[in-house]
Amino acid sequence: MLAIIGGSGLSQLASLDVVERRVVRTAYGEPSGALTFGRIRGCEVAFLARHGYGHTIAPHKVNYRANIWALKEQAVSAVISVASVGGIRSGFGPGALVVPDQIIDYTWGRHGTFFDGPDSQVTHIDFTEPYTQALRERILAAAKACGEAVADGGVYAATQGPRLETAAEIDRLERDGADLVGMTGMPEASLAREAGLAYAAINVVANYAAGRGDSEHAIALEAIEAVLEKAMGRVRRIIEALAAASSGT
Ligand code: HPA
Repeated sequence: MLAIIGGSGLSQLASLDVVERRVVRTAYGEPSGALTFGRIRGCEVAFLARHGYGHTIAPHKVNYRANIWALKEQAVSAVISVASVGGIRSGFGPGALVVPDQIIDYTWGRHGTFFDGPDSQVTHIDFTEPYTQALRERILAAAKACGEAVADGGVYAATQGPRLETAAEIDRLERDGADLVGMTGMPEASLAREAGLAYAAINVVANYAAGRGDSEHAIALEAIEAVLEKAMGRVRRIIEALAAASSGT
């Protein structure tokens, strides 16, 4: 089954014909909220709002382990993360959609592995390509099929938040090679890999990152909601096209 983890601006999927809501608990604690199960264009889909349904859980407080484990336990095999980001690369301005292909992790103090229990073996996963290429390609094909422009590839920098970055921090991320900056991409992606789930992301650029584009002196936070609302309509269409392709309808 396919799962969507929705971030800021996507706390529900209107096109999901809801069959069931399930509250689950895991050995790692509670996920961000109940899991919603249903169908989109005939394809079974699970949905989870990363920040909770009332948007109450900050990026550094999200229980990423519980979220990924809960999905795995419910027979999910592939996860599409939808997450808003700041754009660093010129051209990645507000409203741009990007399917990233690399990650740099700057987060700290988050529970980042399933392999640290008292009885677990030290385990190192391969993370050379942090996103599952086949799932990335399904997203890109779906976007093409419904005529939505999506950039193929970008380096996602995961910062701790919840505050936004300084302009100098963004300069540093750019020197490191980052194109996008967000607060929730890690350890979600590596936990999915540890759990054996396919994982890819659709990043929605909410604003130019600090010091870039029209955010030269400040990020206009009041403008973000409208940008996300419009862009999430496009994300929903891509997800519908992907679901249609998956169910053969
Ligand atoms: N920085 C970090 N995370 C974000 C941003 C940003 O500028 N915009 C949306 N999520």
